[in-house]
Amino acid sequence: MGREMTIAMDGPAAAGKTTVGQMLAETLGYVMLDTGCMYRAVTVAALNQFGDVSDEAAVVALAQQIDMEILSADGFADGRSYTLLLAGEDVTWQLRSPAVDAHVSQVANYKLVREAMVQRQRMIGEKGGVVMIGRDIGTVVLPDAPVKLYVIASPEERARRRLADRQAQGATVEDYEAILADIKRRDHIDSTREHSPLMAADDAHLIDTSGKLPEVVLSEMVTLVGKYKG
Ligand code: DC
Repeated sequence: MGREMTIAMDGPAAAGKTTVGQMLAETLGYVMLDTGCMYRAVTVAALNQFGDVSDEAAVVALAQQIDMEILSADGFADGRSYTLLLAGEDVTWQLRSPAVDAHVSQVANYKLVREAMVQRQRMIGEKGGVVMIGRDIGTVVLPDAPVKLYVIASPEERARRRLADRQAQGATVEDYEAILADIKRRDHIDSTREHSPLMAADDAHLIDTSGKLPEVVLSEMVTLVGKYKG
């Protein structure tokens, strides 16, 4: 049997990429790499060391030598799909803190931070057997990936899903408008930023998850991938 391929999966925030990406990886016996967590990890490290992320040269230097390890998380009881270690310390739950949410877009727009992360992502992608999730995987990181998926859903649907996720942590229906506004704000930042803006590769398959259960989306993807596996 030949080497397993790498699947590129891009799309806007909260479109369902990590949910279906994880399911697709499990179905194929691949690993999932959520590249957003790498930009988040650099942000955690920068906030811990400098208190903010405004010194681009310092954040770049940090990203270039960061000791980051991502472990696939089979068997963890707390719902995580991976564990991220910074210098051996588990920072997985810090990756989604409000402070990181507020600063990560700025870090992800530093050109040399991107170069450092893309280099690591390519090394992981080269091994094959990976579902790699992000914003620029099909366009920049792995332009030769045999299968590229571009996952979308309407902003309203994405806001409803985010709200449902957050209801477990106490969010209420009154928070819907704020969540929707935040999703639209992030779409704007991601798609208009200077370096590697969010966009579908010309050869990406568009997968609209609006109104679909994850299992339905998964089965669409498995059918598609099957055509490439031959
Ligand atoms: O998917 P996420 O919300 O965890 O992404 C965090 C940030 O990183 C967000 O600003 C988009 C950015 N990102 C990126 O620029 N390129 C990627 N391949 C993945 C994420």
